[in-house]
Amino acid sequence: MKPEIIIALDFPTGKKALSFLDLFEGEQLYVKVGMELFYSEGPSIVRAIKAGGHKVFLDLKLHDIPNTVKSSMKVLASVGADMVNVHAAGGIRMMKAAVEGLEDGSTGAARPEIIAVTQLTSTDQETMNSELKINGELRDVVLAYARNAQEAGLDGVVCSAWESEEIHAGTSDSFITVTPGIRLLGDAKGDQSRVATPARAKEMGSDYLVIGRSITKADDPVKAYRICMEEINND
Ligand code: C5P
Repeated sequence: MKPEIIIALDFPTGKKALSFLDLFEGEQLYVKVGMELFYSEGPSIVRAIKAGGHKVFLDLKLHDIPNTVKSSMKVLASVGADMVNVHAAGGIRMMKAAVEGLEDGSTGAARPEIIAVTQLTSTDQETMNSELKINGELRDVVLAYARNAQEAGLDGVVCSAWESEEIHAGTSDSFITVTPGIRLLGDAKGDQSRVATPARAKEMGSDYLVIGRSITKADDPVKAYRICMEEINND
């Protein structure tokens, strides 16, 4: 299956995000709304983007007691996002509650896809072991958390493109991997460490490629998006 591109709309205001989308003139995109944009604009920004025919991954990374996550997910289901997420560190009971909340709030419609963050890509081996007090290899912890997410009934995880194959092998082919840290050849890595090109991420089995700055900060964002699309459409 060909992966889909999700453009990270990391803009501080709805106005900036919507003018960026205007560049694409009627084309239907899949975009990611993160905390910055959601906290400044609220649910109306998701509804405005959806009204333009786009799909939305609402990246709010919920992590709280099961009851709170369940009731919050019920509200988020009514906002109309196509994908939402939680931290796998909240545990299996919390993740199950998240799925229940989404199902409760999605009356009459398919519930949004729900994925889990395993370990943040900003967390390295040393921080995980000595600061977070989680023993073992980072890769093993990522896989164990992915299995917890699968057991809880989630649809997939956020991970690095380099972990997609191992996660598919350790869960199932249909368990989705959503991978940030994508860069076109020659683009700056910025604060990402383990980056992959769209073509390489596709080869390694990513289901969704989250691409921010390589598109949003390009001189010509529409052209940069087309280059990414060509890379994943070339067999
Ligand atoms: O600009 P760039 O392509 O690095 O943007 C990647 C996007 O993916 C950002 O919105 C970032 O917050 C998000 N993300 C990430 N690593 C994760 C989870 C989300 O980079 N583990």
